[in-house]
Amino acid sequence: MDSNEQLESGFIAELKDLVTLDYDAVEAYEAAINRLENEEYKKVLEEFKKDHERHIQEVSDFLIDINKSPPSGPSIQSILTQGKVVLGNLLGDKTILRAMKSNEIDTKSAYEKINTYKKIPDELKDILERGLKDEKRHLAWVEKKLEEK
Ligand SMILES: [Fe+2]
Repeated sequence: MDSNEQLESGFIAELKDLVTLDYDAVEAYEAAINRLENEEYKKVLEEFKKDHERHIQEVSDFLIDINKSPPSGPSIQSILTQGKVVLGNLLGDKTILRAMKSNEIDTKSAYEKINTYKKIPDELKDILERGLKDEKRHLAWVEKKLEEK
């Protein structure tokens, strides 16, 4: 990227919030994986967790490249972290998946929103589009599992 001036106002702040949200999501996945009994669910959520870890890595690398410091961990009081506390008290795989569904909706919305910026730097475009695709796929899977008996 030539210059930071080309970035739309608010973009970097929103990008940082996105990284924080991805950290929160990783924590929520860990809480869910520890609680779930179904081995298939655990395995799939491990894969989804890796997607979020990749998002963190890729967006953080971009921020470092343009001399901005990326967030270093989850937020203290996020919706997802509260979700994690709630998750810790939930019983039953379907109940846990329902909590994860609300997390997937939040992360999907965040990726939808960041993708509405008009001047996303080229090196970030694919990363953010892939991030949105990942979240749509995560949500679709959770919804499918919740529909199954
Ligand atoms: Fe996700």
